[in-house]
Formats: sequence, structure tokens, C-alpha cells
Amino acid sequence: MTNKLKYFIGNWKMFGDPSSLKIINQIHSFCGRFKSRGKKNKIILCVPNTLIYFFTTKIKSKFVSIGAQNCHHQKNYGSFTGSVNAMMLKKTGARYIILGHSENRSEGDTNQIIKKKIESALKQKLNIIFCIGETFKEKKVGKTLSVIRRQMRSSIDKKYNLNKIIIAYEPIWSIGSGKIPKIQELKKIFIFIKNEFKKNFKTKVSPAVLYGGSVNDNNIKKFSSISEIDGFLIGGASQSSKKFIDIIKNYYK
Ligand code: 13P
Repeated sequence: MTNKLKYFIGNWKMFGDPSSLKIINQIHSFCGRFKSRGKKNKIILCVPNTLIYFFTTKIKSKFVSIGAQNCHHQKNYGSFTGSVNAMMLKKTGARYIILGHSENRSEGDTNQIIKKKIESALKQKLNIIFCIGETFKEKKVGKTLSVIRRQMRSSIDKKYNLNKIIIAYEPIWSIGSGKIPKIQELKKIFIFIKNEFKKNFKTKVSPAVLYGGSVNDNNIKKFSSISEIDGFLIGGASQSSKKFIDIIKNYYK
């Protein structure tokens, strides 16, 4: 196990209310203690828009950062009922943003729309957690690599500030299903993503690449043998401070 920086990012999805501050506080105090043991970790919680301002004003934590989960692609204000853009999220306190999540792709986000969202978020200097991943059907017919290559190529441009982009590989069939990919297959996919990124965007920057999909405190240890994994995007298990903390602890056991 290396001492390289690892990301543990929670995606709360549609969960939480102001009383959920206690979850963040518990994670924050754990991180304070854990960091002192010499591990380099970045803990980020991507919470509903309704909580970003509240959390960022309540916790002035150097251990826990707050992020958003999606935005409208338009950079400025506009007539889009119920939507918020990257500028509004940034001004509300978010430092990170998840874009391209399969749950948003399934509601109409195309690679082109995601590209516009990435541009608007970069303009605001937000750090982007860009999700890619294949369906079960695509996996079955051997299309995993071509699908994720297309998702990367059509939404990222080599002109972008690539240091601001973290990739999250989330096979759709794994999200919320309890199923995780075979470790050897996953390793190959991670090597592919890193090579493809460098080759296609003509950069020496190797992006941080995270795994997401049914990560929990029982299976986390399995991933620690893949040195190419720079961290995790955690859905359901990030909604409980105990589970989230146990994921971090068990990863390093
Ligand atoms: P689960 O961890 O609940 O499978 O969700 C993964 C996910 O979608 C994170 O973005």
C-alpha cells in the first residue's frame, strides 16, 4: 500500500436535511485523529444543494470539503425552473462537483451536455468529479473500454485545466446492486483510463481515477491491491458516518 493521496468522496444523492450536520461533524472529528497517523486522504462530501451553504458555513474544516452533485449547463442566470448553475453552487460554498453521473445521464444528460457543464464548472474553478461507466449490456458484449473512451473524449477537451478533473469509474450495473467488478478486470480498466487520458489529451498529467459502485466497509479492502485506484466515490454507505469512517479505516487495515 502506497502513501499516495487517496480520495474518499461521498455522494449523498437525494439524502439529508440540516440535522445531517452531525454526520459531517463525526466524519470531521475522525479525520482530525486519523490524519495525524500520517495518511494522506482527501475527504469530500457531495451533498444536496439545499445543504451546501449551511454545511460550509457551519464547518470550517480543513479535513472535509463540500461538493455539489450536478448543475445546469448554462453559465449565467436563466429561465430554468428548479435549476442551479455552477456559479450559484460556487458562491454557495461548493468546491467540488460531480458531473456525468449515470443517474443524471439516464435523465437526459448527453456527453455534449456534460461537456457544457464541465466548461461552466471549470470557469468557476470548481474541481470536477467526472463519472464514466458502462451498462451491464455493454459489458456483456465487450464494450466497456470503447464506451468509457467515448465518454471521456466527447466531454473533455485537451484545452481544459486537466488538473481540476478527477475521473470516477462507476460501472452502472454496480451502482446500488451490491456487485463489484473482478479485481483483475478493474485493474486493466484503470490502467486503460490513465493511459487513454494521457494519450488523448496529450498531457503528462495522470488524472486521479476513483472507483464507485457498491463500495462498503466489507468489500473496501479488496480494492487496496490495485495501486492505480486513487480513491472511491461512495453512495449509500456515505450516508452513515459509521459506515463511511469504517470504509476509510478498513481500507488501511
Ligand atoms: P452506491 O455506493 O450506493 O452503489 O452508489 C455509487 C454511486 O453512484 C456514487 O456516485
